[in-house]
Amino acid sequence: MNRRDFNLSLLAGVAVSAAPTAHAASTTQDALRPDLTRYTTQEVKVGEHTIRVRAYEGLPTVAKAVEPDYQALNLYIPEAYFQGGSVGGFTARTAPIFLPNGVGGYMPAKPGGLINRMPGPPGQTPAPSASAVALTRGFVVAAPGARGRTLQAADGRWTGKAPAAIVDLKAAVRWLRHNADRLPGNTDRIVSNGTSAGGALSALLGASGNHPDYEADLRALGAAPTRDDIFAVSAFCPITNLAHADEAYEWQFEGLREFRNIAISMLDFRVQRKEVVGQLSDAQVALSGEMRQAFVAYVNALGLKAPDGSPLTLETNGQGRLREHIAGLLQASAQQVLDGGRDLSDVSWLQVQGGRVRSVDFSAYARTVGRMKAQPAFDGFSLETGENQLFGDASIDKRHFTDYSLRHSTVSGAARADAGTVKSMDAMQQLLDARAKVSSHWRIRHGSVDRDTSLAVPTLLAAAARQRGAAVDLALPWGRPHSGDYDLEALFDWAEAAVRQSA
Ligand code: DHB
Repeated sequence: MNRRDFNLSLLAGVAVSAAPTAHAASTTQDALRPDLTRYTTQEVKVGEHTIRVRAYEGLPTVAKAVEPDYQALNLYIPEAYFQGGSVGGFTARTAPIFLPNGVGGYMPAKPGGLINRMPGPPGQTPAPSASAVALTRGFVVAAPGARGRTLQAADGRWTGKAPAAIVDLKAAVRWLRHNADRLPGNTDRIVSNGTSAGGALSALLGASGNHPDYEADLRALGAAPTRDDIFAVSAFCPITNLAHADEAYEWQFEGLREFRNIAISMLDFRVQRKEVVGQLSDAQVALSGEMRQAFVAYVNALGLKAPDGSPLTLETNGQGRLREHIAGLLQASAQQVLDGGRDLSDVSWLQVQGGRVRSVDFSAYARTVGRMKAQPAFDGFSLETGENQLFGDASIDKRHFTDYSLRHSTVSGAARADAGTVKSMDAMQQLLDARAKVSSHWRIRHGSVDRDTSLAVPTLLAAAARQRGAAVDLALPWGRPHSGDYDLEALFDWAEAAVRQSA
């Protein structure tokens, strides 16, 4: 018996629930059903745990790839699942599938490996990667690549503009379902994860399951003709809701002129940090006021609710229930570290008394963390942001994506991405569209000192997911800057609880 037969016979009878629909034999199908005897064995160590995994790397997720290095998947599966064994209480049939994307800055990302690529503190070994932790807890890991905003073909055409990245992630999900009958892992339990732009894509994957908007692109690429909805979303600091993120930023940082950012670049393999400090001009301050008003109107039109059922509205002066709700999230975050023994007496925007955080002054909070980005924060008037480049098309590198910035554009002949493209990249808009299948479980984290986008962005995203019936766990972890994967044990505890709840 060759190894392929061996694998198949072991897996016979444990085929997961979503058996793929029968397709006529086609090149698409063959390309997407690779030879599973080709793998390497890797060892993953996390603390005391060591686990042997089969690594299938660089699996093409579409039959007609435009960028084969990115439209691919790395798959890591505990060896025990091929031997009838269990890991962390899961088996080949029950194991959830952890789907981390490595996207940052809406840049292209190759399929992820098992090593943590983030540098740890000097002199210390880096923390284990989310994928390594997932494997030791019995998850199957499927790490897809995705095209991004800077990719260009030899003929000069741009190949990774919106919505390429989400289309690629959906193709990877479909690939998993297409191969579900012959691989360990339960495709009804796919848990997506990502940080920042990757957090936005993770949320978008959970918000847009099986939505017809993506069908033509998926078909053109030769993606597997099956479902792409997922079970659960983990999103760290999602840079989403790009159509309204500029307004949300001005609402939060009302009246602040100074912006301060650390520009990080790599030179000779050394990380260079350069502080960028600037002041908004009088004209920008005036526009900021207009944007704030636009945000108030947007929020009130959404008609979303807080977990206690109260409407998340704002008054024309920017005060109101949404602001109080966000202040409450900051208060809960502060209370948690206070309970853990942290001294918060020097935090000027908190009122602490008798071991309780009594109140949060949200305006003082915003002044203290300070604004990081100029105005507008995302759709730059001179097309200078990463998001402008995300919303280019095959022949145009950079475009606007809001009417507001198009009207104020300083670039003659600047174009605007159509509303459909902007929506196809936006978890928030997809959540408001009943045609998508929405993940039943969401975990959203946005650090309390993260200024890359307004706290209103993750808060409204959570409220919209809740409105679609999802169980949503939203928190603003104390003192965390723009980052992710910092609380992996808690992340997988949450994912396991979600799986158990739904079993
Ligand atoms: C990311 C950060 C940003 O501030 C932004 O506008 C887009 C993406 C990121 O870290 O991925």
